Amino acid sequence: MQIFKHLEDLRQWRQQLRMDGKTLAFVPTMGNLHEGHIQLVHQAHQHADVVITSIFVNPMQFGENEDLDAYPRTFDADCEKLAAADNHAVYFPSVSEMYPNGLSAQTFVQVPDNDNTLCAESTQRPGHFRGVSTVVTKLFNMVQPDVACFGEKDYQQLRVIRTMVADLNMPIKIVGVPTVREESGLAKSSRNGYLTPAEKAIAPVLHKSIQQVKTAILAHYQSSTTTDNLSNNRSVIDDNAQIEAAAIAAINEAGLKVDYVIARDAHTLAPITQDTQDFVVLGAAFLGKARLIDNITFSR
Ligand code: PAJ
Repeated sequence: MQIFKHLEDLRQWRQQLRMDGKTLAFVPTMGNLHEGHIQLVHQAHQHADVVITSIFVNPMQFGENEDLDAYPRTFDADCEKLAAADNHAVYFPSVSEMYPNGLSAQTFVQVPDNDNTLCAESTQRPGHFRGVSTVVTKLFNMVQPDVACFGEKDYQQLRVIRTMVADLNMPIKIVGVPTVREESGLAKSSRNGYLTPAEKAIAPVLHKSIQQVKTAILAHYQSSTTTDNLSNNRSVIDDNAQIEAAAIAAINEAGLKVDYVIARDAHTLAPITQDTQDFVVLGAAFLGKARLIDNITFSR
């Protein structure tokens, strides 16, 4: 497995691949790799001849009070896991190579918020997605992949990347990969390492509760008739508020602190109506030093 620390070397390698007629799939990460990341590498193999993974803890996407310094850096162990998954190359740039003019004078890429952006997410983490879309654009320009794989676990991130690639006509196919979970249902995450054993025991309540939201929403649609659409719309809004409130209470009671639990239209992220067919339930909660996120999608 080749390891590139400098852009120049990466560019030469990329040039050679093109001359050899080989396609390239890319897995961007911040390292501290777990089975979720490795699943992206396996998926990447399905879409191209050669697979490259990047490891870069991106300062631009961390909020002021977030865990940038504490974020786990485990480069050697990461490389072992990547080699075992037949990953061909690793790009491991320094902060100064990524941001040669520093962070404050940086040109950035911003995917516009629309009415359906989750307010909770944007107030908790101002500038987070701007940091993600900027670094992913830079990585795309550096790596020049044909295909890039992202986890569905970060549902809003995947949406932002898909919008950015479409809006900016980037010649890259984006592949979404289903969330890899612990047996308990807890979504695998680098930040799970912050949890104490006691916290880890209660963390699965987030997933359990958003699944209960799914069950309750499906029950709502089964029980409502289609005769009076307006009153059904009112009742879906009332029911949904109650369903979300019940999930929030259950998660808080277990000892987490909910940031949000919201059911939305899976395509537009608009509030659900009586006509909604495809759903996403998104949840985020604080637990000890970690902020956990999760989501599920389903159709009726
Ligand atoms: P990171 O959190 O390291 O995640 C890298 C990729 O792995 C993302 O696409 C994420 O959605 C995916 N992933 C994480 N946990 C997963 C799980 N349990 N199952 C499936 N996929 C999972 O996301 C980032 O880094 C950064 O924001 C990045 C895109 C690299 C930009 O800095």
